[in-house]
Amino acid sequence: MAVTRPDVAAVVLAAGKGTRFRSDLAKVLHPAAGRTLLRHVLETVRPLGLGQVVVVVGHQAGDVEAEAKQAGIDGLVTIPQEQQRGTGHAVEVGLDALDDRVREVLVLPGDAPLLHPATVAGLLDGDTAAAGTFMTTALADPTGYGRIVRSGEQIERIVEESDATPEQRAIREVNAGIYVFEREPLQQALAQLGTDNAQGELYLTDVAEILRSSGAAVAAHLAPAEEVAGVNDRLQLAAAAAVLRERKLAQLATEVGVTIIDPATTYVDVDVDVGRDTVLLPGCVLETGTSIGEAAVVGPNCRLVACDIGDGAEVTYSVLHGAVVGAHATVGPFTYLRPGARLERGAKAGGFVEIKQSTVGEGSKVPHLSYVGDTTSGSGVNVGAGTVTVNYDGYAKHRTEIGDGAFVGSDSMLVAPVRVGRGAVVAAGSTITDDVPDDALAIGRARQVLKEGWAAQRRARHGK
Ligand code: UD1
Ligand code: CA
Repeated sequence: MAVTRPDVAAVVLAAGKGTRFRSDLAKVLHPAAGRTLLRHVLETVRPLGLGQVVVVVGHQAGDVEAEAKQAGIDGLVTIPQEQQRGTGHAVEVGLDALDDRVREVLVLPGDAPLLHPATVAGLLDGDTAAAGTFMTTALADPTGYGRIVRSGEQIERIVEESDATPEQRAIREVNAGIYVFEREPLQQALAQLGTDNAQGELYLTDVAEILRSSGAAVAAHLAPAEEVAGVNDRLQLAAAAAVLRERKLAQLATEVGVTIIDPATTYVDVDVDVGRDTVLLPGCVLETGTSIGEAAVVGPNCRLVACDIGDGAEVTYSVLHGAVVGAHATVGPFTYLRPGARLERGAKAGGFVEIKQSTVGEGSKVPHLSYVGDTTSGSGVNVGAGTVTVNYDGYAKHRTEIGDGAFVGSDSMLVAPVRVGRGAVVAAGSTITDDVPDDALAIGRARQVLKEGWAAQRRARHGK
C-alpha cells in the first residue's frame, strides 16, 4: 500500500485488559468473524496510506505485539504502556514513538472492528481548521459511551458515563473514540490531563475541554452508528461479529454471485473466498483461510477451516480442517478430512470416511467407512468399504502407497509401511503386511472351510 499521507500517523490503543470481557485473553485478541479485534482495526487503517502506525500495547504485550506485526503493515511499530493509566496516558505513550515528520495523529481504539476505511478517510479529510476532530454518532441507547457536550458546531467537552449528570446522560450524541489531532496542540493538552474523575484515569476525552479553553477549535465528525460500536463485553463481541458476517454474506451474494440459501444459518469469516455460482446450503461454517472455487456446492451442515475447495466440488454434512478438495471432487455425507488430506480432481471421500496426511488421486474413490492416513494413492483407485490403513505401530507413523488403478477389497487392513502396486487387487478381508507387486492379486486371510449339511444337522439336534 502506497504511503499517501506521510505526515499522518495512527495511534491504536490496545493496552487495556478488557475487564468487562472476564477473560484470560486480552480483549483485542478475541476474534470476530475470524479476525482479532486488533486486526480488524489495522485492516481499517491499512488502505489509508499513513506514514506510521503505532500500536500501544500493555496487557499481554508480547502476544498483542505479535498479532500487530502479523498484519505486515509498513511503518508499524509497537510501544509499551507499562501501566494502564487511561486513554489519555496511552496516547501520550504512543506519541513517544512518532517520527519527526508526523504532523497529524489519528487515534483509534483497538476495539472498534466495524469501522470502514472510507469513514476514517472522511474524518482525516474533514475540518482542517480544528486542532482536534472527534468522530461522533447518535445512538438510541448511548449507555456506556462518553457524551458530547456541544455549543453549536464546536465540542465543548466530553463527559464519561460514570461522571455524567442525569441531564448529560440523556444526551444521545456519543464519542466514538476515534479522533484526529494536530500533533503539537495534542501534546500540550495531554500534559495538562488530571485524574479527578470517577475512574481516577487520565481521560483522552478531557483533551476537548483543554483545547477549547486554550482557544483552539474542536470539531465533530458524524459517522454511522453501526460502524463505531465499541466492543467492551462478549455480548457486544457477538453483535459485532454478526454485523461482520452480514456484510460478508452481502458482499458474496451481490458482488461475487454466490447463492446463500439461508443467511441466518451461514457463517462465513471475513478472510474466506467463495467463487461465483457456488451454492452455500444452510448450516455452513466457513472459517479463516478457506477458499472455495466456482459452482461448488457446500452444505448443508459443514464446517470448513483453512480448506481449499475446487470448482464444481460438492461437500455435504462434513468437517474439514486444512484439506484440499480438487475440482469436481465429492465429500460426504459424514466425512472427516484432517490436515494434509488432499483429494485430486473428481475424487470421492464418502460416508463415514476419515482421511489425514494423504493424497487420493484423480478420480479415485474411498466411498464408505474407511480410515486413510499417511497414504499416497494414485489415480483410478478404489478403496473398498471398511478399509483401514494401519499407519501407527504405537511409536511411529508409517506410509502406505497405492498405485494407479489398484483395487482394494472391502474390509482390508493395509499394515504400513506397505505398497499396493499399480493395477493390483487386494482380496476383500485381507490383512496386507507385505508389498503387493503391480497387477498381482493379494489374499491375506484364512481360507474358507465348508461343511456340507452342517446347518441342517444342527437344526435337527435342536428339534427345529
Ligand atoms: C472510550 C472513551 C469514551 C468513548 C468510547 C468509545 C475515554 C476516557 N472514553 O471509553 O468516551 O465513548 O471509548 O468506544 O477515552 N486503553 C489503553 N490504555 C489505557 C486505557 C485504555 O490502551 O490505559 C485502550 C483499550 O485497550 C481500548 C481503548 O483504549 O482499546 C479504549 O479503552 P476503553 O476502556 O474500552 O474505553 P471506553 O470505556 O470504551
Ligand atoms: Ca471501548
